[in-house]
Amino acid sequence: SKAEPLRVMISGAPASGKGTQCELITQKYGLVHIAAGDLLRAEIAAGSENGRRAKECMEKGQLVPDEIVVMMVKERLSKPDSQEKGWLLDGYPRSSSQAIALKGYGFEPDIFILLDVPEGILVERVVGRRLDPVTGKIYHIKYSPPETEEIASRLTQRFDDTEEKVKLRLNTHNENVEAVLSIYEDITIKASHINGNVSKEDVFAQIDSALQNLLQQRKATSGSH
Ligand code: AP5
Repeated sequence: SKAEPLRVMISGAPASGKGTQCELITQKYGLVHIAAGDLLRAEIAAGSENGRRAKECMEKGQLVPDEIVVMMVKERLSKPDSQEKGWLLDGYPRSSSQAIALKGYGFEPDIFILLDVPEGILVERVVGRRLDPVTGKIYHIKYSPPETEEIASRLTQRFDDTEEKVKLRLNTHNENVEAVLSIYEDITIKASHINGNVSKEDVFAQIDSALQNLLQQRKATSGSH
């Protein structure tokens, strides 16, 4: 029989490196990357009423209301590709109510990864971040500069990537992180704290080893039956 697909949640402060690690995780594990922030930015780009309401909250660094976010994420998780390949949920849940809602729909992770990065590092990461609208790739002017002049000339910045706004986003994160962690400490094998204040390759090495451990444990359990 085919192995059960992996179900992974990744969380952490703004600019802790979630999106960067998700690129590396999907490359190796083939999971479907579902980023709550990306789904919301797509909704804004589509010009919908939900998008308009979401943008108001995002500009203040506040959580977008559950009635918008929960269904959006649940619908994406329910699609056949997520079910077949497994999923990597990035930036959700950000509150206990979001975690409980998802659990109610039957979605639970095998592992909950929390990227730990000291607050002093985050502002520099945010203000130096750039995005390639063509490939979706995440860059940093100092830590992860674009490969070519052509890419450099088309890079964009997010509307909420200012020093002032990242501080608001960080407050929101700090208010909620403990409540979310405590939910997954009960139901997953363990909530995995990862040191996010090293190179992106070294952060990935820690995540990779946590995922390999998980797969090994599964193998051992299924072998014993
Ligand atoms: P979202 O888009 O999820 O933003 P965020 O949580 O603030 O996280 P970021 O995307 O800013 O950072 P990241 O951790 O992905 O870091 P990255 O890899 O890019 O959410 C935006 C808003 O949407 C929220 O504020 C909220 O309003 C709303 N929202 C989203 N989800 C919601 C939910 N569930 N409920 C309600 N509202 C929701 O890295 C950052 C930079 O650092 C890059 O330049 C990168 O190159 C660099 N970098 C990465 N790793 C390293 C490293 N190891 N060393 C050096 N530099 C590095």
